[in-house]
Amino acid sequence: MFSNRTDWSLSPNTISKALDNFKAQGIPYIDLTASNPTGCQFEYPQELLSSLVVTDNLTYRPLPKGLPVARDAVAQYYNRRDLEVNPEDVFLTAGTSEAYSFLFRLLINSGEAALFPKPSYPLFEFLTDLNDVNIDYYPLEYEQRWRINIDKFEQSILADTQAVIFVNPNNPTGSYISPEEKEEINAICRNRKLPIISDEVFFDYFFGGDDPHVSFCGNQDVLTFTLGGLSKSMGLPQMKLSWILVSGPEKYKREAMQRLEIITDTFLSVNTPVQNALKSWALFEQDIQKDILVRIRNNLKELSGAVDGKISVELLRASGGWSAVLRLPEGIDEEKFSEELLSHEHVLAHPGFFYDFEEGNHIVLSLLPPADVFRDGVGKLVDKLS
Ligand SMILES: Cc1ncc(COP(=O)(O)O)c(C=O)c1O
Repeated sequence: MFSNRTDWSLSPNTISKALDNFKAQGIPYIDLTASNPTGCQFEYPQELLSSLVVTDNLTYRPLPKGLPVARDAVAQYYNRRDLEVNPEDVFLTAGTSEAYSFLFRLLINSGEAALFPKPSYPLFEFLTDLNDVNIDYYPLEYEQRWRINIDKFEQSILADTQAVIFVNPNNPTGSYISPEEKEEINAICRNRKLPIISDEVFFDYFFGGDDPHVSFCGNQDVLTFTLGGLSKSMGLPQMKLSWILVSGPEKYKREAMQRLEIITDTFLSVNTPVQNALKSWALFEQDIQKDILVRIRNNLKELSGAVDGKISVELLRASGGWSAVLRLPEGIDEEKFSEELLSHEHVLAHPGFFYDFEEGNHIVLSLLPPADVFRDGVGKLVDKLS
């Protein structure tokens, strides 16, 4: 009765089972995986809501790329970061997952492959399954910091590879694309005629310092789709507005945009009120981002202090994003550790295999929880390790 593409294992893992049990019995726990900013006690300005009550929202204008006023607001988002963007190159989508789906439909035939970083965001497997796309990986390697091994990246490109994906900065490793990596990637992709999808939803959340990082926004060397969205840029996942920015050599770009326009026209999925509000919401962007950045930087400092020199656990160096990765001492199994952390200490943290870490044992934490919750959870985690 059901499609092969949805033939997933539906039985919950041990951690989800324990969690369901906690919820059923009303047992409180500390969630160090919380990644929904609207559940992490940030104060959102009430004025965000007033912008939704405008008469124009009673009119439907079915435009495949989205309303000009909203695409203009996206172009201005990049202009504020000294990046030149033409609103005509912007396509709006209802979330970044939808943007991926549309791009897979545009670029990849069923049974062909897309190349993703490993470790990375677990939803990619489902997104590729749902679009009948095979998933291949290129490794990110850690040596004082995360890097793309460019030789291995190139070797991972096979005859059926139709697109390469960069997550910039990557979730959960927090590693950005460096200017050198971008140059090497461009050279390889130009040579192989491979389009680039650069997921930059976390780009604004740079931890600071002089770690080199560069956007693919406006990349001209190769057909490039740069993704961004409100879920991270304004901490508003419920508003379901993301965008695809198309750039690259004119002949590829023109055809890509014509085809993409038919895809977006088929769905017209972005709601009007959010598009109309986007321009006025830009006024609040800086304050919201600042609150989130202060939270993640403080939590990172707390975590670094808690693990520093006390136990043989290593906080892996990251440059941005909303996550932190701990490498566990040798001999400690990440899955068993997470299970026991939850069942004994009532603290939820993700084991590295959720994100496909190649080797070693890791724990992934969200940096979004309120400071006191985070401190409490990290304290229990460190105690357990000690
Ligand atoms: C790397 C990455 N891309 C995309 C998304 C999804 O974003 P959206 O809520 O806009 O679909 C996430 C969500 O956490 C993510 O981590």
